[in-house]
Amino acid sequence: MAQISLEHIDVTFKQKHQVSKAVQDVSLQIEKGDAYGIVGYSGAGKSTLVRVINHLQKPSAGKVIIDNKDIDKFSLAQIRQLRKNIGFIFQHFNLMNARTIEDNILYPMVGTKTSNEERKERVQRLINLVGLNGKEKFYPAQLSGGQKQRVAIARALANNPQILISDEATSALDPKTTQAILQLLKKINKELGVTIVLITHEMDVVKSLCNKVAVMDTGKVVEKGSILEVFSNPKTQLTKDFIDTTNNVKEAVDTLSAQERFVELSRNQQLFRLHYIGASTETPIIIDLYQKFGAVANIVYGNIEFISNVPLGNLIIEIDAEESTIKEIKEYLASKDVHLTNINLDQEKIRNSKEG
Ligand SMILES: Nc1ncnc2c1ncn2[C@@H]1O[C@H](COP(=O)(O)OP(=O)(O)OP(=O)(O)O)[C@@H](O)[C@H]1O
Ligand SMILES: [Mg+2]
Repeated sequence: MAQISLEHIDVTFKQKHQVSKAVQDVSLQIEKGDAYGIVGYSGAGKSTLVRVINHLQKPSAGKVIIDNKDIDKFSLAQIRQLRKNIGFIFQHFNLMNARTIEDNILYPMVGTKTSNEERKERVQRLINLVGLNGKEKFYPAQLSGGQKQRVAIARALANNPQILISDEATSALDPKTTQAILQLLKKINKELGVTIVLITHEMDVVKSLCNKVAVMDTGKVVEKGSILEVFSNPKTQLTKDFIDTTNNVKEAVDTLSAQERFVELSRNQQLFRLHYIGASTETPIIIDLYQKFGAVANIVYGNIEFISNVPLGNLIIEIDAEESTIKEIKEYLASKDVHLTNINLDQEKIRNSKEG
């Protein structure tokens, strides 16, 4: 049984003359110990969706079941209790500027049954965990963005929550600080067993932290599954675009489409994207093409990475062969679970100019 089960959630905002369907028929199952990524462009409905989990946002339709309980039936006291069990890291930190770091972290414990001793001990443990020793008496204004984010994480963990929701916790940070914060979240997930729901628009973040992912587009979840499933076999163009930002294929295609030599080539349909998962890496593809089909293949770009310990390859290759041979090659490779698709740089150019 899932720890968090969202069932056919709708959230509709009604303003004077406007109805905005921020979330439409979303169902998600999040298991205990998951690090569940939710990706999507701005306005996709990510924040609205996660706010439903701790009842900061009441759904217009659908059910939120947490630990087998329908939270819509909760009393106010139960909702308060639920929120203590769900840590929330906000994008803009939401720290209290007039309070010191330790008081910020202590604040969520106010009104709980924890003793003063226990509170002090916990604050110190959390400060150690997020690496802010020595900054206990500082005020938020005296901290950098990354340090503030660490305070926000410590505060979200103040009541030993079972669930941690992070809404773009790293979007305001530089790459190095982002990595440090991700490592911290990973530790919280792995060592403390805390379930993490992580919103981001960066697929790289998902790849380094999450075991599952859902992709949102205009209020709907268009794709979901394990990281390996989604990365190895993305079904929607949106997901493909997100993934391409992490393996640099998109960047490589952009670079190539700026070079006339390759644009010419692709007009003659000789530039291909070659994509494979797992065992296929062990078959000598390039050699096969020559020995079996007499086709010379030249690697223009290559990226092989490991996702959940499974190799995933994305190559761009130039193949010198007749159209009929290409067809045979495609069939042969498909039988080995290697996918070959044409790249038309003229079209890529048009697509880029529309996007940019
Ligand atoms: N309180 C509200 N009242 C009216 N409309 C809202 C409200 N909150 C969100 N919306 C609308 O719902 C849609 C989804 O917003 P949401 O904040 O969930 O997107 P998001 O995916 O988190 O975007 P971002 O990546 O920019 O944070 C938007 O069109 C937004 O204008
Ligand atoms: Mg948001």
